Amino acid sequence: MRIILLGPPGSGKGTQAQRLVQRFGIVQLSTGEMLRAAVAAETPIGLKAKDIMASGGLVPDDVVVGIISDRIEQPDAGKGFILDGFPRTMPQAEALDELLKHKHMKLDAVVELRVNESALLQRVETRAAETRARGEDVRIDDTPEVLIKRLAAYRAQTEPLIHYYSERRKLLTVDGMMTIEEVTREIGRILHAIGAVDSKASRKGLLAKRTVKKAAQRAPKSAGRGRLAAKKAAKGARKAVKAASKAIRKGGKKVVTRPAKKLTKKRAKA
Ligand code: AP5
Ligand code: MG
Repeated sequence: MRIILLGPPGSGKGTQAQRLVQRFGIVQLSTGEMLRAAVAAETPIGLKAKDIMASGGLVPDDVVVGIISDRIEQPDAGKGFILDGFPRTMPQAEALDELLKHKHMKLDAVVELRVNESALLQRVETRAAETRARGEDVRIDDTPEVLIKRLAAYRAQTEPLIHYYSERRKLLTVDGMMTIEEVTREIGRILHAIGAVDSKASRKGLLAKRTVKKAAQRAPKSAGRGRLAAKKAAKGARKAVKAASKAIRKGGKKVVTRPAKKLTKKRAKA
């Protein structure tokens, strides 16, 4: 499965991407996370991106396209991926089309998370407060002032992608104002509906579940059959012992009480 999560800052792209990673076992490719790692490691890309990110602007297209192009090559992206925060401009979307075409990969869907602007501000402020409370470094762009700039960049450069993917019949819009759980459920539902979810994998999962269930249903029956067989064997053994003692009493031939041995084995099995 290959999908894009599209939405303004704070709409829940990262949150939902992580939940989809757990559910479908594919990788999250977040340009924001990769750039933050580059900034922290002070790599040449990080040094280039630092001030742009702090001001709420967008990092040059060639930089992010280069990052994504390299990342898609990695073996763990072979099973599928969730693009979180990429593409963000028309040139990025066109570059992605080329990249996927070149690699013979198909994009399944673009999931747009729609959230009110007042809720976005609230969410970003909450995230900053929670990060601070954990004693961790707050994202440099998680302030109301920078958020306004990030929103302006989104409107001017990213929103046109809604039309771009809608025209290509790839766009699926989800109400991002619902709870986190509800949004995840809705994304899962629409991905199933369009057949983007690897049905082989889910069929395998379903079959495995059914096999376990059937075995569990059969277990009491076979246990019952085992008990019945043991009962029969015990009856046979008692008969054999009786016959043997009768024969001994009569001074007849020695009788080997094999059924009793069989009974012990069967009991052990049961
Ligand atoms: P990036 O890291 O991509 O940031 P962003 O798009 O601005 O979005 P956020 O990460 O802030 O929000 P999110 O949508 O992931 O929401 P989240 O799940 O965290 O980019 C940062 C910067 O890097 C850019 O400004 C740019 O400079 C640069 N950059 C990155 N990619 C680039 C590209 N392709 N091109 C150029 N430059 C690029 O949720 C937010 C909060 O809300 C969390 O606390 C969460 O718990 C909460 N929340 C989530 N869902 C819900 C819900 N349903 N209900 C209530 N709370 C919720
Ligand atoms: Mg994010």
